[in-house]
Amino acid sequence: DWTPDAFVEETVSTLKKELGNDHVILALSGGVDSSVAAVLLHQAIGERLHCVFVDNGLLRKNEFEQVLDSYKHMGLNIKGVDAKERFYKQLEGVKDPERKRKIIGGMFIDVFDDAAHEVDSQLADGETVKWLGQGTIYPDVIESISVNGPSATIKSHHNVGGLPDFMKLKVVEPLKTLFKDEVRRVGKALNMDPSILGRHPFPGPGLAIRILGDITAEKVRILQEADAIYIRNLKESGWYDQVWQAGAIFLPVQSVGVMGDERTYEHVICLRAVGSTDGMTADWIHLPYELLSKISNEIINHVKGINRVVYDISSKPPATIEWE
Ligand code: XMP
Repeated sequence: DWTPDAFVEETVSTLKKELGNDHVILALSGGVDSSVAAVLLHQAIGERLHCVFVDNGLLRKNEFEQVLDSYKHMGLNIKGVDAKERFYKQLEGVKDPERKRKIIGGMFIDVFDDAAHEVDSQLADGETVKWLGQGTIYPDVIESISVNGPSATIKSHHNVGGLPDFMKLKVVEPLKTLFKDEVRRVGKALNMDPSILGRHPFPGPGLAIRILGDITAEKVRILQEADAIYIRNLKESGWYDQVWQAGAIFLPVQSVGVMGDERTYEHVICLRAVGSTDGMTADWIHLPYELLSKISNEIINHVKGINRVVYDISSKPPATIEWE
């Protein structure tokens, strides 16, 4: 019978044999899969696992700092890379969702390749990183659809000509036989922080595909503020753990409102929350009206630039979870 403890024991011992004294590099995304993969590899090879966490400027509010901090507490050998400006610059004026994805995927590869070279340059003479660790899980293996995080981004760029150096590495994927709920159980057996294990899925391109139309630092800021209020309220009300995935979306419309004696003409935020088991199909969640009302008031009163909040009541199919 499959148990998380037996899986950990067996996997760590297999990794030890397979990797020997080799060095491994792995991109952490803040998500469950890459985090659990990292902890397993860390147990097997310790400091020879080199983790990289990239701030693409499209993460949730304060997420880079908080997640980096919790990874450090877990003892991981991790390097945070602030690449916000590089991403914003490349994305300037870009509206098409697939172009956004390509640019972000391509930029991620550049940033990660730089980080991989830097790790190599710090190793002892003659040593190089030989492996790329990835948090691939079973559904990623059987579906070509990209799910969550840089590892998916890497996969979808396999056939871009001229492979970056890190892609010439051998690949080690300790979770590739597991489903999501099993990954969470393994994480629990590894005593990992429940706030990392219980995280909602979050797309690799991040808030870029939750800002419809072109991306600016100001839109990112507005969306981060609104999203933070939304997520905090879901947590405080106990709804966060009952939802597969939730997030706020910045719509490319302005609408008229009124504030005091003045008319306003400002942006609209849409709230989305869905239930699902694998992201392939999803139902919108019937959040209580009182909760929606509280969140809407808080967003409109505290986030400058927003005068209207709407709730998405569409299921997948035919709608998708993300709006882009
Ligand atoms: P959709 O919008 O297709 O989303 O219903 C299904 C799941 O996939 C995530 N998603 C992505 N993940 N890169 C990712 O890493 C992407 O480009 C991407 N697009 C969607 C989405 O958040 C949901 O969990």
